[in-house]
Amino acid sequence: MEVIILKNIEECSLVAANIAAKYLREMEQPVFGLPTGSTPLDFYRQLIRMHQEEGLSLKGLTSYNLDEYVGIGADHPASYSSFMENNFFKYIDAKRENLHLPNGNTDDIFGECTRYEKLIVESGGIDLQFLGVGGNGHIAFNEPSSSLSSRTRVKTLTEKTRVDNSPNFNSIDEVPMHVITMGVGTIMEARHVVVLAFGAGKSEAVSQMVEGPITASCPGSILQMHPKATIIIDEAASVDLTRSEYYKWVYNNRPNWQRI
Ligand code: GLP
Repeated sequence: MEVIILKNIEECSLVAANIAAKYLREMEQPVFGLPTGSTPLDFYRQLIRMHQEEGLSLKGLTSYNLDEYVGIGADHPASYSSFMENNFFKYIDAKRENLHLPNGNTDDIFGECTRYEKLIVESGGIDLQFLGVGGNGHIAFNEPSSSLSSRTRVKTLTEKTRVDNSPNFNSIDEVPMHVITMGVGTIMEARHVVVLAFGAGKSEAVSQMVEGPITASCPGSILQMHPKATIIIDEAASVDLTRSEYYKWVYNNRPNWQRI
C-alpha cells in the first residue's frame, strides 16, 4: 500500500484528480470505478475544473459506480444516480451511455447484479477504482462481515450507515434498507485502487484498513492484499496510524518516475 498523508482535503483531492487525469491522457478508453458520498466531492470538482479550464477530455471514459439504493428510482434526489449527475456527469464530455450505475429499481434485482458484473468484464475490467471508506471500514456498501471475495449483490445496510446517509433523505425512515453494491472481490480486480478518507471520523477505520489485521470485520483491510493500492488521507484521518512518519518519509522521497 502506498499511504499519502497531506495537509487537507484540497491537496488530497488534487493528487487523486491528477492520477485520474494521467489515465485519461494516457489511455484512449480508460475504465474508472467511481464512488459517491461526501468524500469524493472535491475530487469531482477538481476534475471538472481540469476539464473546463485545462482542456482535459473525458470523452473516452467508461465508468462504473460502486453502488445504488434498492427501491428508489434513478431520478430520486437522494439516489446515487442523481448524485453523480449533479456533481459530475452533467459537467463533463463523457458519453452518457458509457457512465453506468446499478439499477436499484427493477423487478429483477438479482439479474441486475449479474448484468452489472458482466458489463464490467465486457469493458475489459476496471483500470482505476476510486473509493471512500465508511466510518466502520466498509468499502462501497460492503458492510463489516461481507465476504472478502464477494461479487456485485444485494446487501442490507447497518443502522450506522443508514444514520450516516440520512441527511440526504427527509428522514431516517426514508433511507432504504437495501442496496446493490459491487462486491469486495469485484473491487479487488480493479488494476489500481485509490482510496480517499478525510477527517477524524475516519481515523480509526483508516488505521484498521492500513495497519490492522485483514478481516471481514473491516472490509477495507483486504486492500493490503491489492498489488496497487494508493491511500490518500488528510492529517486528521491519519492520527491513529502508528507509522505515519514513515509513510510521509517514503512519499517525500519517492523516485522521480513515481511523481505525477
Ligand atoms: C457510503 C458509500 C461509500 C462511501 C462511504 C463513506 O455509504 N456507499 O461508497 O465511501 O459511505 O461516505 P462519506 O464519503 O460520505 O463519508
